Amino acid sequence: MKIKQSSFIVSAVEPSQYPPADIPEIAFAGRSNVGKSSLLNMLLNRKNLAKTSGRPGKTQTINFFDVDQLFRIVDLPGYGFARVSKSHKQRWGEYIETYLNTRENLIEVFLLVDIRHTPNELDKMMYDYIVSAGFSGYVVATKLDKVKNSALMSCLNNIKATLGVAENHFIVPVSSTNRKGKYKLWDRLNTLFQMAGYDIHFERQISNAPHLKQAKKKGKK
Ligand code: GTP
Ligand code: MG
Repeated sequence: MKIKQSSFIVSAVEPSQYPPADIPEIAFAGRSNVGKSSLLNMLLNRKNLAKTSGRPGKTQTINFFDVDQLFRIVDLPGYGFARVSKSHKQRWGEYIETYLNTRENLIEVFLLVDIRHTPNELDKMMYDYIVSAGFSGYVVATKLDKVKNSALMSCLNNIKATLGVAENHFIVPVSSTNRKGKYKLWDRLNTLFQMAGYDIHFERQISNAPHLKQAKKKGKK
């Protein structure tokens, strides 16, 4: 099926504000400025559904986005943003922890890390936390457009080694700028729905990105 409608539902900080736990949710976690909100927009073919910013600390609450009333993407506040007070940071940590610990319709959490950088202590803590909470620990390496093809494998290997990602575990490089990796991520979402027993299968969301148009013209996929 194609996406007919995607919309912002609510911004929440505590469970009483969450929408009903009636449809599956997929959450995006990661450091501030890593590209969580941009990835959400790219996946849903929307320019500005989730607000993005070049300045870290844009998303400060848990934002729920509905996709055709079939599932939700949950944009979590970014962690590791230096320019906020300690009590602020603690509060964000609590929002995230409570959500991950209590949300029964949450089927997977993707950890986003910047492909160019070695994950830091907070990323490692988040990854361990996600895995210990019983999720697979899928990793999305963002900003793929910022690295040369020749450096790709070493960047991915560095991320895997630092986080302690198991061999053959899912890690996908993506770019919200040129949309590379989008199909792989959609394939993974569909697999997740299927594994969790939901009859949900979306098309790969072919986009109008210029590089894809170019490729189509040349008869490639
Ligand atoms: P917080 O809300 O602060 O947690 O940040 P976020 O993780 O939601 O990041 P956001 O999507 O707002 O993106 C941060 C900055 O990175 C913006 O300037 C984006 O344009 C840029 N950005 C995001 N994804 C990509 C990408 O794939 N490639 C490039 N080159 N820039 C990106
Ligand atoms: Mg954001």
